[in-house]
Amino acid sequence: MLDALTYAGNLENIARLVEGGRVKFIKGSIAEAADVKTAMKGCEAVFNFAAETHVDRSIQEGGTFIKTDVLGTYTLLRVAHELGIERFVQISTDEVYGSSSGEYFTEASPLRPGNPYAASKCGGDLMGAAFFNTFEVPVVITRSSNNFGPYQHVEKFIPLFITNTIEGKDLPLYGDGKHERDWIYVEDNCAAIELVGTQGTAGEIYNIAVGSSHPNIEVAELILELLGAPKSRIKLIEDRKGHDRAYLMDSSKMGALGWQPRHQFRNALEKTVQWYKDNEDWWRRVKSGAFREYYDTYYKEKLKKGKRYGD
Ligand code: DAU
Repeated sequence: MLDALTYAGNLENIARLVEGGRVKFIKGSIAEAADVKTAMKGCEAVFNFAAETHVDRSIQEGGTFIKTDVLGTYTLLRVAHELGIERFVQISTDEVYGSSSGEYFTEASPLRPGNPYAASKCGGDLMGAAFFNTFEVPVVITRSSNNFGPYQHVEKFIPLFITNTIEGKDLPLYGDGKHERDWIYVEDNCAAIELVGTQGTAGEIYNIAVGSSHPNIEVAELILELLGAPKSRIKLIEDRKGHDRAYLMDSSKMGALGWQPRHQFRNALEKTVQWYKDNEDWWRRVKSGAFREYYDTYYKEKLKKGKRYGD
């Protein structure tokens, strides 16, 4: 496993796997050919999960997204070609299709990225398609909807709202809170990715979605209910710039491969809330230091100007 251990990386998450000998860890960047060669030598397959992923950060500064998500993917593909890798799985996102106003995107839908993060993921996907066409690198692309579950970084909506609730803080909900996301439990997503890695057809794209979207306000209320906190903890704050309203994908191609999500949203959210309750040391460490600084600068003013839900 190759990881640059940026702010989002955390060796603690895989410590047991490394100690047990199931994962060999190499610190390095996917945008550095030398690091990539060291990591890829002797491999049959490559799964590219490495990315800058947080939309809000890409709105503040997009350069690192282009470096990792476009140049990094290009570097991986180039080395994969050189070493004759037998399978290259590019992990992508529903965000490449842009916002939906009710229509379900298929794998053939046009790419209409709505923010710098999504655009950089489009760049990586297109590079994958180009390497398949030009060099016959056996690339498959997965496009997943919003993940949630244990170990998710606290910058993301669900862990941020769970941990803020536990800490007794307000929940910063963007805009009118009616934006919708199709939440997929991380284990369902991983099962789908594994299936595409083993059974998918080279050169193809696979949408991975559950097909049941929830408005953010509904998810925020459910988190508060599960933790026994009042709805007044929600603060409606200034909206994210260019905020995509909804992502909807047709994932029948995954169905044809034999995949179906196994987790129901409410049950999986209950499990996730329980995980964050049981692993307070872990998220308190993640929330300290650099993240605290980011949180304070990004949210402080917005929260001050925000409107308490229900007022
Ligand atoms: O759709 C897949 C994508 O899901 C992935 O490709 C991205 O890497 C991942 O970050 C995620 O993007 P989103 O922007 O949808 O996720 P995020 O957790 O940032 O936000 C989910 C929704 O919650 C979105 O409508 C914005 C809203 N939100 C988010 C944060 C962090 C808030 O209202 N307040 C917040 O503080």
